[in-house]
Amino acid sequence: MGIYINNAQQLFHLQTKSASYVFQVLPSGYLAHLYYGKKLRSGDLSWLLKTQERASFSPNPVAEDRTISFDTLPQEVPVYGTSDFRHPLLQCRLQNGSTVTEFIYVSHRVEQGKPALTGLPATYVEHEDEAATLIVELQDKVSGLRIELQYTAFEHYDAITRSMNIVNDSRESIQILRALSASVDFPHADYEWLQLSGAWSRERDIVRKPLTYGMQAVESRRGSSSHQQNPFAALLAPGSDEDQGEVYGFSLVYSGSFIAQAEVDQFRTTRLSLGINPFEFNWTLEAGQSFQTPEAVMVYSAEGLGGMSHNYHHLYRERLARGKYRDLERPVLVNNWEATYFQFNADKIEDIAKVGQDLGVELFVLDDGWFGHRDSDNSSLGDWVVDKNKLPNGLEDLVSRVTNQGMQFGLWFEPEMVSPDSDLYHNHPDWCLHVPDRRRTEGRQQLVLDFSRQDVQDEIVRLVSDILKCAPITYVKWDMNRNMTEVGSALLPPERQQETAHRYMLGLYDVMERITSSFPDVLFESCSGGGGRFDPGMLYYMPQTWTSDNTDAIARLRIQYGTSLVYPISSMGSHISAVPNHQVGRTTSLEMRGHVAMSGNFGYELDLTAFSEEEKNVVKEQIAIYKEIRGLIQFGEFYRLLSPFEGNETAWMFVSPDGREAAVFYFRILSESNAPLSRLKLKGLDPEADYRLVGGSDAFGGDALMYAGISVGEKLGDYHSEFFRFERV
Ligand code: DGJ
Repeated sequence: MGIYINNAQQLFHLQTKSASYVFQVLPSGYLAHLYYGKKLRSGDLSWLLKTQERASFSPNPVAEDRTISFDTLPQEVPVYGTSDFRHPLLQCRLQNGSTVTEFIYVSHRVEQGKPALTGLPATYVEHEDEAATLIVELQDKVSGLRIELQYTAFEHYDAITRSMNIVNDSRESIQILRALSASVDFPHADYEWLQLSGAWSRERDIVRKPLTYGMQAVESRRGSSSHQQNPFAALLAPGSDEDQGEVYGFSLVYSGSFIAQAEVDQFRTTRLSLGINPFEFNWTLEAGQSFQTPEAVMVYSAEGLGGMSHNYHHLYRERLARGKYRDLERPVLVNNWEATYFQFNADKIEDIAKVGQDLGVELFVLDDGWFGHRDSDNSSLGDWVVDKNKLPNGLEDLVSRVTNQGMQFGLWFEPEMVSPDSDLYHNHPDWCLHVPDRRRTEGRQQLVLDFSRQDVQDEIVRLVSDILKCAPITYVKWDMNRNMTEVGSALLPPERQQETAHRYMLGLYDVMERITSSFPDVLFESCSGGGGRFDPGMLYYMPQTWTSDNTDAIARLRIQYGTSLVYPISSMGSHISAVPNHQVGRTTSLEMRGHVAMSGNFGYELDLTAFSEEEKNVVKEQIAIYKEIRGLIQFGEFYRLLSPFEGNETAWMFVSPDGREAAVFYFRILSESNAPLSRLKLKGLDPEADYRLVGGSDAFGGDALMYAGISVGEKLGDYHSEFFRFERV
């Protein structure tokens, strides 16, 4: 069942397909962490805990046992004030001003399946036997605070999730200063730390460095998960790589400011923790109230980064994403953003749709600029009424002109924002995040709506719903284009102002829940200036994300490769855009752009009417091929073959769930004169089976394809790509 409990030893052992996570209640009632790693047999594991008397600088909270100090004890619930000098999981300020707490075991229970987290996105089960959940209760007797630690072991998905519910059983309010989701103590520091970092239009670069004494962390203080850092970190055993070695992944199901950190202490142990960023966070918990932290998803892999990614891909694709489109092939789309920006009218849109239909495109997406009087990015956000100057006969008319071409229709929104130049702002100037008597800093000439407010949430649900009801719209791109400043809410009292950012996230999640469940037939794609909020929290509501505003094929190699470390391919939007590319000025072939874009949820983001007849033929062929392989791309097993972070070549491949088909993509950035022959070793095939190149007659052994490899890169020229399809014979 995934959770073994030795009652005599009060020892808890969570097991998944290949991992074990073990902790124990000590006689003193404290929870000690014993082990996280490769799967162990269940049995007596209490000997794994080794305590030792140290100098008096590591004080002893249990008077009769001088081998116990929180300064050295590996713990499940580290807190501050009673001899642990490392960073705590939880810190609260009590009415008497003290921040000292001590949590002692009270009880535990096991539930089949997995309970939902109130108000927060989280992984889920469809059948109770997919997972088991352990809930351990601890109490701080002095304050009356109680915590419920929730651990779920997903046996088949090979992942463990963890979160904490803090309950105020006292008669007084307390302040939560820090409430992380997970904290794991590792017995040594022989690891490399891996993070996904970047900036707007170059998201999720892979950064690896050895752990060293002290703190290493990634965090966002922007009020969103951010382009700059992703809510994810991994620890890698030395020498581990894509295919082998021990890797621990930690991913946070949250879209706001977060922290993920590793602290290496004096004895070279490592404390890995992650959760809501305590920076600018302070939550008043009234008597009788509770606070639920977001969920951390932990994956252990003995098969390197590739093994870790496979687990995250399966879990996030099948048990985090939801709704009708979770398991459906995604349509090939054309988006007008890079084609027209704000300058379009109904005729232009219809022209693009006409060509799209002829080429095999299935969905037209009308991007920014269709509402208010938005001819540039300096007005109208919040006024979700169609701009009759551009679309004189309304949205309904445009939608029918597009759908008459046999295409579906999709629409862009940026629901969380308001332009100072808008009716919404004039009518409700206090509806944005702001601080009394201070100026309101604009970003892209817009302010952030205060989604912590119920009235704002309700009005946005109403406005977006009214538009979605007025015409057969089957796709929504939900954008968000600036970070939070002057973070304050007009409705919260002074002592609660630092709750605003998290309350915003709860409000946003509630709005998205209401809208996505009211429109179950709409495919929702999240976006934040591309990948500024590419996180598991958003994936719970919207099964795909616009990966990056950078559509250059070469830049996308790194962006898509880095993103794939955690996020499934079915979550990544990738489009062919015009050349020279608008973000980097580079010119790459239509073929290469196609191969990169076909490695995700495929589409075009350019003026299809500008294609020559020759280009149209190439595009027709691309779309036809993509339709044949998209099930394999979106729902197959993804293998990284060559890393763009390590050299001039990149390659990846997909194997269908039934193992019958494979698609391989190879990319080379710069051509080299008289270069050595290149062989690309495939992965994920059956060594005993034979495979035929689609369109050819020769059969190749799966073993030879994987262990010897195929020849690639013979053709000269920069920005070169190759594509191979294999069928099992
Ligand atoms: C940022 C998005 O990432 C783009 O794709 C586009 O939708 C613009 N916003 C529109 O303002």
